[in-house]
Amino acid sequence: MEDAFIVNGGKPLVGTVRLSGAKNVALKTIIAALLFDEKVTLQNIPRISDVIELMHLIKSIGGHAEFIDTNIVEITGSSVNTNKVELLHSSKIRASFLLFAPLLNRFKECYVPNPGGCRIGARPIDRIIDGMRQLGVDVEYDSTSGYYNARVAKDIGGTYTFPKPTHTGTDLLILLSVRGNGMTTIENAAVEPEIDELIEFLNVSGAQIRRNNSTIIIEGVQKLSAKSAYTIGLDRNEAVTFAVLGIASQGSVEIEIPDAWSIKSFLDALEKTGAGVEKKSSNILRFYYRPGLKSYSIETAPHPGFMTDWQPNWAVLMTQAQGETIIHERIFENRFAYVNDLKRLGASVDFVSVPADNPESFYHFQYDENKHYLQAIKIIGPTPLHNGVLTMSDLRAGASLIIATLIAKGESVIQGASILERGYENFCEKVNALGGDIIKV
Ligand code: EPU
Repeated sequence: MEDAFIVNGGKPLVGTVRLSGAKNVALKTIIAALLFDEKVTLQNIPRISDVIELMHLIKSIGGHAEFIDTNIVEITGSSVNTNKVELLHSSKIRASFLLFAPLLNRFKECYVPNPGGCRIGARPIDRIIDGMRQLGVDVEYDSTSGYYNARVAKDIGGTYTFPKPTHTGTDLLILLSVRGNGMTTIENAAVEPEIDELIEFLNVSGAQIRRNNSTIIIEGVQKLSAKSAYTIGLDRNEAVTFAVLGIASQGSVEIEIPDAWSIKSFLDALEKTGAGVEKKSSNILRFYYRPGLKSYSIETAPHPGFMTDWQPNWAVLMTQAQGETIIHERIFENRFAYVNDLKRLGASVDFVSVPADNPESFYHFQYDENKHYLQAIKIIGPTPLHNGVLTMSDLRAGASLIIATLIAKGESVIQGASILERGYENFCEKVNALGGDIIKV
């Protein structure tokens, strides 16, 4: 296998796309299932490589995680027999450090390596480690081995206020606190809908978790048990990718949207551009091309703001819009790895300096005043895109390059297909069913 996509672009994508289950819900619910004493069945789990890697990881610590049908996974945590997570598989997925929770619950001490995942900035876990310590876990990092050693020092509980919210950090503190005798309050928690889904899954299984805006209160319970199979929700990131594809390819794509609130900031931004959005029924939206697409600048933000995962898709859409667009990334460093490749296809896109009043609080990563950041780009459109040979760097940048080559006339080659397969299920099949032309080689 070449690990590449060949795209013959320039065709309008038309039809209906069925979204898969959300990657960023699947990963955390599979790990949460290890906290149960009995078997858990999860439905609508996407067959993507991040999920498959996580299942390898679970097997490597003695757990059971198996697809028993196309999108149904069974997980059993009671057979986990080691408190040390291996480096090989965990280095590939960011969510691997959530394994602190089931391992500490079972063994009271564990060894977990520094997390992997898409290389979008330094991605430190300092706030998360602080939070663990505050709730009663002693954590030390051994820089020679790259492993964290964590030990439960007291009943897990207490209050922790995140200095800046973190999505996976919030997940981990919930998972650490959900079983036990303590009471935990997480303040300034992240409020992404994927976290609400984790809370819902745990609560229907006996947990006592309440969220009031950005405060989450967890009353530890002795046991979690799944009364029936739990079905995870649809992937809002995939929804945005296909919506952009429908509009930018000058086509029309109908999508069953998870719930309009979860992508509201995207829909609001689309409205400003004059793109076609038609409500076909309470949860089905049609995204279609309307001539005269206008530029609209965005700043990424935690939910309910414009999500960081969508900005690479937005950049491609804006290459087809009339006027100047500024995209300012506040959540991650290095989330513009697609810029040079977009230029290669003929887009007018450049880094620009957009000053922030108080960068320390404006940016959600660890801001260092001595470092030079490239956090904003300017796009001038519309520009017709042409074919090219490109390389994916991370999942969402990869999706944006595919969108760009699907709207560009001619044959393009995109290296790094496996990066896209980390998070998009049956991507080529779905695109080709809409009249696109993409194959994996
Ligand atoms: N951060 C720190 N210290 C910490 C924790 C986070 O500096 O202790 C920084 C991060 O480096 C980042 C910012 O804070 O700059 C926000 O990080 P957060 O922890 O909120 O993000 P994450 O949990 O690493 C998850 C998703 C991302 C999604 C973001 C935002 C998963 C597995 N990943 O990342 O999804 O973009 O939340 O919602 O759920 C993707 O799917 O492609 C993806 C990157």
